[in-house]
Amino acid sequence: MRVRVATATITAFFGLGAAILATPHAGAAGGDRPVVVSHRGASGYAPENTLAAIDKAAAMGVGWVENDVQRTRDGQLVVIHDATLDRTTDVKRLFPQRSPWRVKDFTAREIARLDAGSWFGRRFAGARVPTLWQYMRRVAHNHQSLVLEIKNPQLYPGIERQTLDLLGRQGWLDRGHLRDRLLVQSFSAASVRKVHALRPAIRTAYLGTPKVTELKAYARFADQVNSEYTKLSAPYVSEVHALRGPHGQPVKVFAWIVNRADDARRLTGFGVDGLITNVPDVVRTAVTAP
Ligand code: G3P
Ligand code: CA
Repeated sequence: MRVRVATATITAFFGLGAAILATPHAGAAGGDRPVVVSHRGASGYAPENTLAAIDKAAAMGVGWVENDVQRTRDGQLVVIHDATLDRTTDVKRLFPQRSPWRVKDFTAREIARLDAGSWFGRRFAGARVPTLWQYMRRVAHNHQSLVLEIKNPQLYPGIERQTLDLLGRQGWLDRGHLRDRLLVQSFSAASVRKVHALRPAIRTAYLGTPKVTELKAYARFADQVNSEYTKLSAPYVSEVHALRGPHGQPVKVFAWIVNRADDARRLTGFGVDGLITNVPDVVRTAVTAP
């Protein structure tokens, strides 16, 4: 979903530099409001997974962003959602002969030439597909926190270890960051399990909605179950909360992709701990309004 709101309106309403929002450990379990996470950055207002998208989230005072990490042909980690480059860049124009334009078939230098902003709007022309290194620098600069998704790990053997190495080199695996600045998630249970085994102190989330009877097995390696929002119900959220995750705390639930105020309020009523959204302003207003 793509929602356009004039920057001036957003800025006037929230104020640049507004307070960064709640920690990931705030949540419905204690009666708090859910954490709001900007999906692929504030992707309703800026091209997804670009530095512009996380800057937009920061300008709106949103402290949590989500991204997608994959790998180039020459082994660089980059932030992009699709396994191919054609939806969100001008790769077809620059490299017409390279169909199907898979991320893993292009070098980092080639990907750095692509325009990852124009598809979304002319004013974003020239935005780039960031390397994970560049992206982490910007998240840190913005004092933001990150839900990092390892995307399509079956295509990139060893991507878990490589990602953690990079995070470690940028200082993201110290105690402070591990406590409340970083969550690593994947649709691949094997990948989440690997992250947990490599670095047990990292908080992790499985993307999906396991059957209630299977939840206990997931709670051995995942601190959270992050589910597509239409699959959630109040009883399901209670079942998840009843379990203890690998860090001894109740397993949490984040819902995605919640872009409507009524859905945000309904899910808050279910007791979810976080709402992942393309339009963090809409969701934040919905869950904080009296
Ligand atoms: O964070 C949840 C969400 O990102 C999962 O779906 O396809 O947007 O990566 P997708
Ligand atoms: Ca994602």
